[in-house]
Amino acid sequence: MTIVILGGTAEARQLAATLVADGADIISALAGRVSDPNLPAGRVRVGGFGGPDGLAEYLRDPQVTALVDATHPFAATISANAVQAADRTGTPLVRLERSGWSEHPRAASWVWVPDAAAAREAADSARRPFLTTGRQSLSDFVAWADRDVLIRLVDPPSEQLPQRWRVIMSRGPYSYSGECEILREHAVDVLLSKDSGGTHTVAKLDAAGDLGIPVVIITRPKLPPARTFSTVAEAAAWCRTCESLGFVGPSTL
Ligand SMILES: NC(=O)c1ccc[n+]([C@@H]2O[C@H](COP(=O)([O-])OP(=O)(O)OC[C@H]3O[C@@H](n4cnc5c(N)ncnc54)[C@H](OP(=O)(O)O)[C@@H]3O)[C@@H](O)[C@H]2O)c1
Repeated sequence: MTIVILGGTAEARQLAATLVADGADIISALAGRVSDPNLPAGRVRVGGFGGPDGLAEYLRDPQVTALVDATHPFAATISANAVQAADRTGTPLVRLERSGWSEHPRAASWVWVPDAAAAREAADSARRPFLTTGRQSLSDFVAWADRDVLIRLVDPPSEQLPQRWRVIMSRGPYSYSGECEILREHAVDVLLSKDSGGTHTVAKLDAAGDLGIPVVIITRPKLPPARTFSTVAEAAAWCRTCESLGFVGPSTL
């Protein structure tokens, strides 16, 4: 009896740790994008499945009893694949998706845009933008070779970046004081972010607000409907009570 968790997030690791502590057999799937990932408890497999067909094939293993999509809210392809593959194989599926930042006290003051290209347009008058939209979006900002762009990444960029761009390599969570320091030190004049949500990376938004720095924020991609929980506790409770599972965990959640 195995639960497959599509991971790559702190919540996925928390869920794996909770269920492994209950005695469940967990396989966490990671895309393999990050060179030195934080590994979850339980078994881990690294690399894509080969689209929805490959994932469906994987789920056909009779040991697999449920699928949890705990990927990042912007990992839209794998989330769509999860819905398709679960439908085709009759595998119970839930999505674990942390709440976004639309309820943040300053959310109304941010410029909300649908994608990275729109974020670049919205912030085009900036001279010292701070890009925290991830490695995959960098190509959308190449027109900014003429300015001092500050970028924060977990892994080094895969392409050559314009000479004036500077990269900070680090992994969250980030503190409010640390974020204020970065924004001040680099004289950032606009902060660009995705609506990743959660608490690990929210300090940059608080810091930017307090320093009067404008924020441009990319809305989440639309995902196909799936039963969704926003907390690890709810997802863990679902896993425990999932009809097809052969174990019953402690009733503390
Ligand atoms: N996008 C972000 O902003 C972001 C931020 C932090 C962490 N992450 C994590 O990084 C991973 C990749 O994100 P992405 O935006 O590149 O995904 P994506 O665009 O939705 O997925 C692209 C392909 O990567 C493979 N893949 C993605 N997540 C996987 C997983 N957990 N296990 C196995 N294969 C996976 C799948 O390949 P196949 O089709 O071959 O199965 C998928 O088709 C995700 O696990 C996500 O949770 C993403």
